[in-house]
Amino acid sequence: MVVGELTEETDLLVIGGGPGGYVAAFRAADLGVRTAIIDEAAELGGVCLREGCIPSKALLHVAHLVSHAAEAEKLGVTFGKPTIQIEKVRAFKQDVVKRLCDGVSTLAGKRNVRVIRGRARFEDSRTVRVDGGEIARIKFKHAIVATGSRPKRLPESLVPADCCIDSSGALEVRDLPATLLVIGGGYIGLELGQVYASLGSRVTVVEALDRLLTGCDDDLARPLVARLKKQCEAIHTSAKLESAKATGKGVEVQYSVGGERHKELFDRVLVSVGRQPNSDNLGLETTKVVVNARGFIEVDPQRRTADKRIYAIGDVAGDPMLAHKASREGIVAAEAIAGHAAAYDPAAIPAVVYTDPEVAWCGLTEADARQKGIEIEIGKFAWGASGRAIAMGRTDGMTKVIADKKSRRVLGVGIVGPHAGDLIAEAVLAMEMAATAEDLAMTIHPHPATSETLMEAAESVLGSAIHMLKR
Ligand code: NAI
Repeated sequence: MVVGELTEETDLLVIGGGPGGYVAAFRAADLGVRTAIIDEAAELGGVCLREGCIPSKALLHVAHLVSHAAEAEKLGVTFGKPTIQIEKVRAFKQDVVKRLCDGVSTLAGKRNVRVIRGRARFEDSRTVRVDGGEIARIKFKHAIVATGSRPKRLPESLVPADCCIDSSGALEVRDLPATLLVIGGGYIGLELGQVYASLGSRVTVVEALDRLLTGCDDDLARPLVARLKKQCEAIHTSAKLESAKATGKGVEVQYSVGGERHKELFDRVLVSVGRQPNSDNLGLETTKVVVNARGFIEVDPQRRTADKRIYAIGDVAGDPMLAHKASREGIVAAEAIAGHAAAYDPAAIPAVVYTDPEVAWCGLTEADARQKGIEIEIGKFAWGASGRAIAMGRTDGMTKVIADKKSRRVLGVGIVGPHAGDLIAEAVLAMEMAATAEDLAMTIHPHPATSETLMEAAESVLGSAIHMLKR
């Protein structure tokens, strides 16, 4: 057979090797389904491992070390001004990525999951054509589309592509710009803005809406914003971007805030204004798959599309665009394909912004609940009353439990503070188990730990928390 004309057959073809796709492929293989996975990148792992969640966490770890070392002075330990060897930081980040990508490849090999490199495009409901690989076509009994998302771009007339970078470019950390403008104060803008600010760049954030991190309650975002204000050159909300153009000296950006016009020169501009699903250029029009107006593939509770042999999971199948949501959907789709009873029906999906402090929440926010007219009782516990938080010199945190007013069932939880992203898992389990505030309050928590703040916030829903005076 001539190379480039080979056709392969498989029972399941997973398109995309990110935390949705590879998890689906591994689960399917474990259930005895003959599985192949195709990705145009050289390594499995997707954006999450290669140029998203994982490298950003490696860089945030370095950034947190720098700021914690500086703050140790208040606790009686003085380090000198740090020297940042950016090439070593970059090497550390790349090593983290490589170890994880290698691990995923090893797991694929041990499970006999066939890994194919190339770009897949549907030709019909049973076949994909492969561009850039040594196989021309793959015929499948079932397919899972797990193609993820890519950064949204601003109109070329507003911010030309040649004078800005996106999150992938920022994660390369080629160098440390003296000045960085971050456009968009969401997850990516704040995580990467904090990395660069901690490593020494003078960072300015411009956000179109009237506050940062609009996905979570304002009171949760506030401690983070307070810290960012100290770390950044400026943070502008309700900002209107007017123009950006590359000059010999950098990027000249014009924006206005409350009618006041700003014209500033930046060494680098990071655009982080959201992501869009990769549902285009996939040949989906040759199948019965339905793509909605926002570009998401429509799916049922098994993650099956309107074309019953084709499933879709992860960022391409709807919000929230989070790796752990994609992985869960991958498991559901794989089990459904293997003939098991499975449905995607989570009680809560945690969201975490891995800044310092971390902001984490799950279930309903207070704003959601009020908008939906749900009667709620809120219990808050300020970390200023937590022994562990005081002992860490970090009293800026807060834990908040939102419960149904009558039944006291936990409807949502928000936490801001160091390691909030680890603490939120207990709240997610509580919601999956339909726990009430009383269940959380009666659960004995280790002392002294910041997890006690969840117990105390739940006690506060019930009327009184031990370490807080009664309202
Ligand atoms: P985002 O949706 O979190 O934030 C984008 C922000 O940009 C919004 O606040 C929006 O109002 C603002 N914006 C839009 N147009 C603008 C303009 N012209 N000028 C100024 N501001 C503008 O999107 P982001 O940060 O790009 O992240 C994309 C997605 O990636 C997230 O929604 C999340 O799903 C995922 N992600 C998750 C992370 C995590 O789990 N820790 C980390 C990074 C990303």
